[in-house]
Amino acid sequence: MSLSPIRTPLCDLLGIEVPIIGAPLGGPWDQSMELVSAISEAGGLGSIATTFRSPEQVRQDIARVRDLTDRPFAVNMTRRPFDPDVLAAVLADPPPVFSLALGAPLDVVDQVHRAGSLFLQQVMTVNQAVKSAAAGADVISAQGSESGGFSGQVSTMALVPQVVDAVDVPVVASGGIADGRGLAAALALGAQGVNIGTRFLASAEAAIPDSWKEAICAAQSEDAVKLLFADHALPAPTEGGYDSVPRALRTSFVESWNARVPLGSEAAAELREGIQQAIRDHTSHELLPLTGQTAGLIRDVEPAAVIVRRIADDAASTLTSAGHWLTAKA
Ligand SMILES: Cc1cc2nc3c(=O)[nH]c(=O)nc-3n(C[C@H](O)[C@H](O)[C@H](O)COP(=O)(O)O)c2cc1C
Repeated sequence: MSLSPIRTPLCDLLGIEVPIIGAPLGGPWDQSMELVSAISEAGGLGSIATTFRSPEQVRQDIARVRDLTDRPFAVNMTRRPFDPDVLAAVLADPPPVFSLALGAPLDVVDQVHRAGSLFLQQVMTVNQAVKSAAAGADVISAQGSESGGFSGQVSTMALVPQVVDAVDVPVVASGGIADGRGLAAALALGAQGVNIGTRFLASAEAAIPDSWKEAICAAQSEDAVKLLFADHALPAPTEGGYDSVPRALRTSFVESWNARVPLGSEAAAELREGIQQAIRDHTSHELLPLTGQTAGLIRDVEPAAVIVRRIADDAASTLTSAGHWLTAKA
């Protein structure tokens, strides 16, 4: 019997105990398979990001997570860009769940199903959700613009109920959720679970530098801003890619380049070189610390298991207290 106070049909589909997905947190910084496995061990679904990873690194990451946990986990890819060699590496040792973001499923959904994995598609509009469900996605993650990393223009609060109405598969709410009230709200909107990124960046197991975790704990939501220059500098979407704009904590680099948009070709080249150099120096997080608006809700770095458990417990108490607003008592 599950000890979780919150259980939805999504838990049965994914083989998890609490409807909490730890989001992929990819980039040119250290990746933590300890974070992925800690979330899965706590009853959620940890996600391995493949962004900036070679096929060989991806194989090693999957093997490491399998060493650390027998529980389900996800492996994520995006279409910004999409590398077929990475897909081959993932499907050579198929994970329980494969997730795709920033672009349409196209033929990937069939390949993933043939390999025996469930397919979770992240979307940023209702239209993308309808097409992804028609293409065979098993779960849709509706991601609002509050989120850290790349997202669209529609907020989670507006997007999730529309996606719930538009598709027949379970919907996960993503973006802007960091505590039990967020999970409770997502369930009230008709979602069967949540996908959480920024909260897990500020976890003990995340391998990002402490300075980034400290910046998250000190930030207000308005400090997490859209990077208006991103299309000039970051990998472009490949075939089927969705329009999206990343969000990061405001830094002097972010402020100065946001102020210079639109960029001419010379400035764009200077911007790209600045970012490439920072990636080579392993300091890109100092320029572009991808982070969502929930930074304003996060004040402590805690172990992932504590975060998962508290979100589930607090969601249950939030839903119970919300019931007190009902005037018609049984
Ligand atoms: C540092 C960072 C890296 C991310 N990397 C990826 C990634 O590699 N693939 C992906 O699909 N989403 C990525 N995202 C988005 C998250 O997986 C997730 O959808 C988002 O953080 C959810 O919103 P939240 O930050 O408000 O919880 C990233 C987000 C952050 C903050």
